[in-house]
Amino acid sequence: MRVRVPAKINLTLGVGPVAEDGYHPLTTVFQAVSLHDELTAQWDEPGAFSIAMWGEGVDQVAADDSNLAMRAARLVAERFGAEDQLGVRMSVKKSIPVAGGMAGGSANAAAALLACSVLWDLDADPEELRELGAELGADVPFSLMGGTAIGTGRGDKLVPVLTRGQHHWVLAVAEDGLSTPKVFARFDELTPDGGDLEMPTELMNALASGDSVALGKCLRNDLAAAAIDLRPRLQQTLEEGMEFGALGAIVSGSGPTCAFLCRNEEAAVALSVRLSAEGVARAVRRVQGPVPGARLIS
Ligand code: C5P
Repeated sequence: MRVRVPAKINLTLGVGPVAEDGYHPLTTVFQAVSLHDELTAQWDEPGAFSIAMWGEGVDQVAADDSNLAMRAARLVAERFGAEDQLGVRMSVKKSIPVAGGMAGGSANAAAALLACSVLWDLDADPEELRELGAELGADVPFSLMGGTAIGTGRGDKLVPVLTRGQHHWVLAVAEDGLSTPKVFARFDELTPDGGDLEMPTELMNALASGDSVALGKCLRNDLAAAAIDLRPRLQQTLEEGMEFGALGAIVSGSGPTCAFLCRNEEAAVALSVRLSAEGVARAVRRVQGPVPGARLIS
């Protein structure tokens, strides 16, 4: 089984004050973009679960039982089958930046849920997989769903959003990742009363009409100040992107990846060339969104 799964950006991310369970209530709009990880899954002996990872940054991801894709495989085996009668050998080719604020770990968990449920011929429908996904991480249900969606709760309660057309993004991928819990902790220190959980209607209108110029003006992220506080260079990256013609700039999720919205493909090529030349980031990638969520490709 081979599954392709996209990265996400948050077009808006409102964060409320921390709850007793340590999580923050969110109001967000996710968009899945054309930067994919690929996971393959093959039968292995009963009770044998393993994972190998390839690509940039994988040395920072443990390929053991703590790996989110391994936890996903074990969870789906336990709930829908019998863990001691099932086994899987997984391999992940990573293109989504590790600890980049683009749900790379969640994407791998989503891919493992889908690949294993098909490989083992388990009777799990998409809604059941999304429920299992929410147990693994707040972004896993969206990695399964893809497209563009409103997320509330921890970001795991999803409603698809109708959008028109494709948006062109340029991503500036930073040298080192940022830890999501640390960014949320800094957010708590900087914003003890929480941010703004209101869903901006201008954003929904811009998505419905496919108006990139309007969308560029609505991009907002309550975690940006915390991410910039931990990594001050991000401020300069955002400013440079705007100076070089982006319609809007945003820290993606908990960062440090920055996403720039462009008018069209030509503008995205021009911006990516400029950003690469300035050396503002480790890597610059051009992507489009929305794209579908985790999908079987063989
Ligand atoms: O759910 P996930 O494991 O992806 O979340 C990683 C961390 O991000 C959590 O441990 C928590 O610190 C933080 N988080 C949060 N509120 C959310 C989602 C994530 O505080 N809604």
